[in-house]
Amino acid sequence: MAQERTPRRERKRTVQQMVLVGVIATAAGIALGLSIHWFPKAASTQADKIDTLWDVLIIATVPIFVLVAVVVLFSVLEFRMRPGEENLDGPPIHGNTRLEVIWTALPAMLIIGLVTYAYIVLHDIEKAPAAGNPERHVAVTGQQFTWTFAYNEGGKKFTDPQLYLPVGESVKFDVRSKDVIHDFWVPDFRMKIDAVPGITTHYRITPKANAIGDHDIVCAELCGLGHAYMRQTAHVLSKAKFDAWVKSKTAKPVATAGGGTSAQAGPTDAKALFTQGIPDKSVTACGTCHALADSGTTATTGPDLDKVLKGKDAAFIKESIVDPNKVIAPGYQPDIMPSNFGDTLSAQQVDALVQYLSKVTNK
Ligand code: CUA
Repeated sequence: MAQERTPRRERKRTVQQMVLVGVIATAAGIALGLSIHWFPKAASTQADKIDTLWDVLIIATVPIFVLVAVVVLFSVLEFRMRPGEENLDGPPIHGNTRLEVIWTALPAMLIIGLVTYAYIVLHDIEKAPAAGNPERHVAVTGQQFTWTFAYNEGGKKFTDPQLYLPVGESVKFDVRSKDVIHDFWVPDFRMKIDAVPGITTHYRITPKANAIGDHDIVCAELCGLGHAYMRQTAHVLSKAKFDAWVKSKTAKPVATAGGGTSAQAGPTDAKALFTQGIPDKSVTACGTCHALADSGTTATTGPDLDKVLKGKDAAFIKESIVDPNKVIAPGYQPDIMPSNFGDTLSAQQVDALVQYLSKVTNK
């Protein structure tokens, strides 16, 4: 038996000091952990439960971290090599049954407790609203690089590039992807799920009373060059305003003043199309990705149109809009620009854009 390194009384004092340090560090760590605002505004009823779970995890994990750190510090101090011990071996230890039972049983109980609690929270936030309470379905489609929200309100179907929700009503998102994996995330709602090609994924949230206002929608899965642009807005409205919005969406389309020859053709102010797109039809503005001096846009995701369209004829410009992969400008990659502008824009709108681009790039 190796000679005792530290007198018993002194070791007892070291242990007492360590316990004191541990208690203070635990209290400070928990206070710090709970005082930091980790998350943005909680805008759904699910968010509150998730934030509470987070707080419980902080309260449960800080003491464990402190315990481990204090035991390590204590061991470094207490069992360090002292002068003259360079060639000594440590005492042979063959285990300590009581200690091993304790350090297996306590963490196991803690983990079972946390897993049970997390399961209860998960079950709770995924629960359908009680019978009799209607639930709205909104179909969310991700594609490079935009979200589209499809509604079915009283049998009337329509889509919008922005998300509109009435406050206080449960909504279930049916999330799909047209191309690669995206991830539908509204941080203020806390919930988030992948949009996976070929399958439909879901989650539901209920906007809280204080959620009226705008909330960012983010794509949380690196999905290509335009990933960072896949940001839209969730508008939480009062029930009355939401109903008014639905009415405006389902009313018969009116020909825009100064615009197209018919409602079918849609607005044909090319410069406005270029800079604003058609938000109602989820048509992204050309200027979101392209620089064009005449329109004042400076984006660099796609080629600078003043350069690549200079000297090109109308046929080339039209092809570049409706079949963008046909000719790729040097230094750029295919499949970045949506290839559906031939469908989402009317023939008149495409022609208007071709004329406009032809004019301003060949001055
Ligand atoms: Cu879609 Cu990232």
